[in-house]
Order: sequence, then structure tokens, then C-alpha cells
Amino acid sequence: MPKYIGIDTGGTLTKIAFLSATNELQLLAFPSNDLQSVKEWILQHASIAAIGATGGRTEQLREVVKDIRSMHYIVEFEATLKGVRYLLQTEKVDIQDAIITNVGTGTSIHYMSEETHVRVGGTGVGGGTLIGLAGLTTGVTDYEQINMLANRGTRHGIDLLVKDIYQGMDTPISGDLTASNFGKVGIIGRTDFAQEDILATVQGLVGEVISTLSIQYAEQNKTKHIVYIGSTLSDNDHLKYVMAHYTELKKHTAIFLPDHGYAGAVGALLNIMEEHEEAIENVSI
Ligand SMILES: Nc1ncnc2c1ncn2[C@@H]1O[C@H](COP(=O)(O)OP(=O)(O)OP(=O)(O)O)[C@@H](O)[C@H]1O
Ligand SMILES: [Mg+2]
Repeated sequence: MPKYIGIDTGGTLTKIAFLSATNELQLLAFPSNDLQSVKEWILQHASIAAIGATGGRTEQLREVVKDIRSMHYIVEFEATLKGVRYLLQTEKVDIQDAIITNVGTGTSIHYMSEETHVRVGGTGVGGGTLIGLAGLTTGVTDYEQINMLANRGTRHGIDLLVKDIYQGMDTPISGDLTASNFGKVGIIGRTDFAQEDILATVQGLVGEVISTLSIQYAEQNKTKHIVYIGSTLSDNDHLKYVMAHYTELKKHTAIFLPDHGYAGAVGALLNIMEEHEEAIENVSI
């Protein structure tokens, strides 16, 4: 029965992290448009003494749970980086610096060194964009279904590659790079593509925009590593492939963490435990 919990109330999903009786990290998520279920879950766990909270919808959650519990807020970027450092440590990923790219509903990008971390930028292209564009182009808005279909699709009929333009010539950059996402559609004048192919191409667009930006920040900050986190990567092999492939093509290292969606919730949990001076050394994952 948890004494402390961390809650990250994001634009789409509300993530909860807590420790089991045997000190194992437990993780679960609710849709952020159903905060009533979060309240019910808290009510079912009478042992909860203190809640660490983070995320852009914290005030909305506070309003729903105010009669039953108070919450201790930590700024989202601080919680996320605290959680990332912890998850890197438990995964034994030994890096001195990295770009941390949090692909949530939108995407937030940070630079982390041993001593400091700072938010360097972001883009409105994120997990929300993935679902939005998928819905508008194919009518499919269910996250799992989008991933399942995209995994079966191919992009080469829809995306225009550098080598498609430079036919019969040497290419000035790698011919396999995308010259124009969705660029073939207008050139060949066809719109009758399979759902699977459209969805794979939507994921390609989202993944490449995010990776391109992350790589630029990595170059600016002179680091080789990019740690990709956020629930948008959950069960999404195709998107992860796009990001890893693009990052490596540009000579950087892509790092994925098993509990990628929960960095904020874990950070909020660690913060509330530190506030109450609980020892956290013995936590296992
Ligand atoms: N079960 C799910 N339902 C809806 N979206 C999901 C689900 N699982 C993964 N996703 C994807 O994860 C994204 C949300 O990621 P995440 O939970 O990291 O963001 P958030 O914290 O809610 O948003 P933000 O940090 O931008 O406020 C969605 O946009 C969607 O692409
Ligand atoms: Mg978030």
C-alpha cells in the first residue's frame, strides 16, 4: 500500500508512480479527461499520506481531489529531469550529457549535463499531432490501432526521397534522406493510398521533425546522445525506428528507456519522498 505517490497530469494522459511494499516501482496511467477515475483510485488507497504532483493539468486535478488530499507541486521540467536521471541510473546508462526529448502531446526538449539541466526548446509536433493527423487522414484515432496499422505500412509511395529528385545523378546528401514528407502525392497526383501507408508516413513526419530538431540542439550543445521519452513512444516500434534511424544517420546516439512515459511521475514521486526524507536507495525497478 503506497504512502507516497507521484502524479504527472499531462495534456493527454495522467501518469501515477509509487513504490510497492517490496519497494518496486509501480506505474499506471489514466486519460487526463477522466480525472474522476484518478480520484477514485486515490480513494481506494487510504494509505497515501502525501502526493507529489506535476504536469500542465495539475490545477485541474487539484480541483477534483481537493476534498480528499492536498498535493505538493513540482515544476514539470524539474520533475521530468529528476525522473530521467533516476531512470538512466537504474538502467545503468552512463552518460555525462544528453538532449532529453519528451514526446508528449507536444514535444519539449532539454539539455542535461552532470551538473545542470535547461529547457532548450520544443515543437508543437508531438503525440497529439500523430493522433490528429492520423484521424484527419484515415479516420483512425485509436492510439493502439494507429500503431498496429502503421507498423504494417510503407512510406516509399508517399514520401519523396532525395534520390527520387536526383535521378541518375550523385546526391549532395544521403539519397535515403526524406526530401519532402508526403512530397510524392502532389508530384504523382495520386491520393488512393492504403490506411497503413498513410499512417506510417504520418509517423515518419512526426518522428523526423522531432529528431531533426533534437539533433540540431544536440549539435548546438555539443552532445552525442539524445534520450527520447514520452508516452508517444509506447508500443510504437515504427516511430521509434524512424527516430533511431534518423538520429543515427546524423551520427548521434538515440537512447530509449523502458519506462519512458513516466519520467515526470517518477520525478514527482522522488521529490515528495525527499520532502519527507524517505530513503530511496533501495528502490528496484
Ligand atoms: N492509451 C493512450 N491513449 C492516448 N494516447 C496515448 C496512449 N498511449 C500513448 N499515447 C500517446 O502518448 C501521447 C501522450 O504522451 P504523454 O502522456 O507523454 O503526454 P502528456 O504528458 O499527456 O502531454 P504533455 O506533456 O504534452 O502535457 C498521446 O498524444 C499519444 O500519442
Ligand atoms: Mg507530459
